[in-house]
Amino acid sequence: MTVVFQNLRKQYGANVAIDDVSTEFAPGLIHGIIGPNGAGKSTLINMTAGSYTVSGGAILLDGRRLDGLKKHEIANSGVARTYQNIRLFDQMTALENLEVCYYPSEAHHAWKEVLWPPYGRARVAERRSACMEILRFFNLQTYADAEAGSLPYGRQRMLEIARALVTHPRVLLLDEPAAGLNHHETVELTAKLAELRSPERVMIVVEHDMDLVMALCDRIVVMHHGKLLFQGTPAEVQASADVQLAYLGTANDIDEIRAAAEARRAQLGIRARQRP
Ligand SMILES: Nc1ncnc2c1ncn2[C@@H]1O[C@H](COP(=O)(O)OP(=O)(O)O)[C@@H](O)[C@H]1O
Ligand SMILES: [Mg+2]
Repeated sequence: MTVVFQNLRKQYGANVAIDDVSTEFAPGLIHGIIGPNGAGKSTLINMTAGSYTVSGGAILLDGRRLDGLKKHEIANSGVARTYQNIRLFDQMTALENLEVCYYPSEAHHAWKEVLWPPYGRARVAERRSACMEILRFFNLQTYADAEAGSLPYGRQRMLEIARALVTHPRVLLLDEPAAGLNHHETVELTAKLAELRSPERVMIVVEHDMDLVMALCDRIVVMHHGKLLFQGTPAEVQASADVQLAYLGTANDIDEIRAAAEARRAQLGIRARQRP
């Protein structure tokens, strides 16, 4: 289960939001995507989940083209996502939010549920207990019967991730899961997400919170103005002058950033040599 971007491109009218991005997301690892606002992070998630079409290039899941498939076909391939802005079913309870999205890990027969009530009842009970288990994992069990819209903001964020998980996704895409969370909640979220790392699952997390990204991610892709600026381990990203400059926002163009980074490295080198 590997997600591959091949020369991926997205254009909104004349605006090139994603420009020739090629990279690979291996299973068993948590991949971070970082970059300033407007870098194209959400666009990558939206194209992978099938919310947006692709303007060029390809998205592959284990060698199979995902782009071009319908959104529900992509979901059926095992891709689940959360949104930068929470999109729960506000009027349903927390438990119902999970139950309506629940997808058993093994195939079951919907027709049997209708024709054979005991089978149906067993399935309903099974679904309920599986969803309760996921609520408990996120410490949301006390909110099971509360309307999702009435939950505190931080709990809603957790519930959205819980809802993505009830589909047993092989690819989990999280768009800014820590947005709006306080420090305590972010620490809690980081620990929960770390537990979701699994050899069969590709996890991709778009995030601004650098503490979360550095603590959680095994690999990081840095986006800047629609281009892939850098990729590497958290330590490599932290050490990269290119990345630091991109975040300082002094340059608009990747070549400019690279040139500036080169110049700064040279400058630092000279200073170091000049020191007695
Ligand atoms: N639905 C859309 N229609 C038009 N332009 C969009 C749309 N979504 C994103 N964009 C543009 O694409 C670029 C990348 O946006 P986005 O992927 O949301 O960035 P990020 O998530 O990194 O902040 C921005 O210039 C943004 O204005
Ligand atoms: Mg975004």
